[in-house]
Amino acid sequence: REQDIMTSEQTFIAIKPDGVQRGLVGEIISRFEKRGYKLAAIKLVTPSKEHLEKHYADLSDKPFFKGLITCAYYTLPTYTMGNDMGSGPVCAMVWEGREAVKVGRQLLGATNPQQSSPGTIRGDFAIDVGRNVCHGSDAVESAKKEIDLWFKKEEINSWKQAGHDWVY
Ligand code: RTP
Repeated sequence: REQDIMTSEQTFIAIKPDGVQRGLVGEIISRFEKRGYKLAAIKLVTPSKEHLEKHYADLSDKPFFKGLITCAYYTLPTYTMGNDMGSGPVCAMVWEGREAVKVGRQLLGATNPQQSSPGTIRGDFAIDVGRNVCHGSDAVESAKKEIDLWFKKEEINSWKQAGHDWVY
C-alpha cells in the first residue's frame, strides 16, 4: 500500500564479533525475517580500527571508546581477549520495512543486557554491556550514515517480498 511504502525505512544492524563467534547469526536474522523485515544487504566484514572510529565517532569521549574500537583480533585472536567490535568478523546488514529503526532497536533490547527484557536478542543471549551481541542504528539519520559507511550503493538490494501486502 502507498502508505506503507512511504513509511518504509532502512536500518543498519550489525551482529558483533561475540554474536558471530557464538553462532547467533542465523537466530538474529530469523528474528528480523519473522517480524516481517526485508534483508536488503548482508556481508561479513572484519572492520579496521579506522572504520570503527568512524562508526563510533559520537562516542569518542566515552571511557569505553578505546576498548570498543581496539582491533584485538589482529594481536590476540581469541574470544576471551577480544574487545567488542574489533574482536573479529562482524555481520553487517541492512534491514528494511516500516519503522525499521525503532522496531529494530526493540528487537535488540536495551544496550545493557542486564536491563534488556527477555524476548529481546540481548535479553535472551547477553549479560555484559561490552558483549551485547548486536548493534542497531538509533535514528533514521544515523542509519543513513551507517549504511553509507558500511556498504557501497551497489550492495544494497531492492526487491519485493512475496505473499502479503502487509509484510513490509
Ligand atoms: P549500539 O550502538 O552498539 O547499538 O549500542 P547503543 O546505541 O545501544 O549504545 P551506545 O551508547 O551507542 O554504545 C555503543 C556500544 O558501546 C558499548 N558500551 N560499553 N562499558 C560500558 O559502559 C559501555 N557502554 C556502552 C556497548 O557495546 C554498546 O553497544
